[in-house]
Amino acid sequence: MDGLRQVTHIDNVRLGEDKASVVIIDQTQLPSKAEYLTLRTAKDLYDAIFELKVRGAPAIGICAGFGIYVLARTIDADHYDDFYSQFRKYREYLDSARPTAVNLSWALNRMERVVTEHKELPVEEILRLLEAECNAIWQEDMEMCRAISGYGLSLLKNGDGILTHCNAGPLATSRYGTALGPLFLGKEQGMEFKVFADETRPLLQGARLTSYELQKAGIDVTLICDNMASLVMKNGWIQACLVGCDRVAANGDTANKIGTSGVAILAKHYGIPFYVLGPSSTVDLSCKTGEDIRIELRSPDEIKKKFYQAPMALEEVKCYNPAFDVTDHSLITAIITEHGICYPPYTESLARVIAG
Ligand code: MRU
Repeated sequence: MDGLRQVTHIDNVRLGEDKASVVIIDQTQLPSKAEYLTLRTAKDLYDAIFELKVRGAPAIGICAGFGIYVLARTIDADHYDDFYSQFRKYREYLDSARPTAVNLSWALNRMERVVTEHKELPVEEILRLLEAECNAIWQEDMEMCRAISGYGLSLLKNGDGILTHCNAGPLATSRYGTALGPLFLGKEQGMEFKVFADETRPLLQGARLTSYELQKAGIDVTLICDNMASLVMKNGWIQACLVGCDRVAANGDTANKIGTSGVAILAKHYGIPFYVLGPSSTVDLSCKTGEDIRIELRSPDEIKKKFYQAPMALEEVKCYNPAFDVTDHSLITAIITEHGICYPPYTESLARVIAG
């Protein structure tokens, strides 16, 4: 396999062959080591999601789908009610690992529906249906990413300079990725891009994962600190911004990695199109606006200590560490899903996407 295919077709999350585990690439070890972890228990799964060993909205959903199936197989119950009550406990526990990416609860809800809609079946049979459902979530993600990549690519020209924030590549999904998908697909077709990857403080997904994926795929990538985005835009080096999403509200307000809204504000200032790419499963019409999206707050140590040999701030210094921010819909040029390109007014275009 060439470098490009090795990146785009990586199995970063899969069901173990024994069906009693989920196997993931530990994203916290990249780029130094490609280490696979085998997750067997509810705590293994919760910790892997909470600690961002598996991360990126679609990948979290895929992992949760496989994970709840693995846990369901361990439930010792002959009767539906006992089975369902234990299933619910596992479901709630996994769902509490990360609140902002809607794909986590979306995938768990899909799995739960399989259980509740087949009450009359023996547990063995329900397990078979659960296995099919988690595999379907995975397969569908591959198809969605491929379609998103195609629509995204239609907005780009050969030689464009692209700025991206965080990581929305194959590691964050199943194949190709969302925001990075058009770049990999374009590369497959012989196109060249010059990509600027924000390092993405504080957890460095841009440095550790995005620049790694693009470099390995042979795509021209330049890593910058988050506070350099304005300068590269001012220099005329950026023709489009491509970012992923963790939850899109009905009006198009979009939660994505902290710092995304700043990039969008800069893009507006410099007249650069700002595109959000994600599967329709990331659109949450129950959130009318971004105000309804819960933002995950994480440990101050991620700012003060993580990645440093010694703390970079006094122990007693207060830190504010939101993992996501909301980009106002007015700053977004288009939202690209597997169904096509949505333009404002998003209340109408997203509603059409969800209605099918
Ligand atoms: O905290 P993370 O690393 O899970 O945040 C990820 C992002 O913000 C991604 O941009 C988003 O999940 C889209 S992944 C295709």
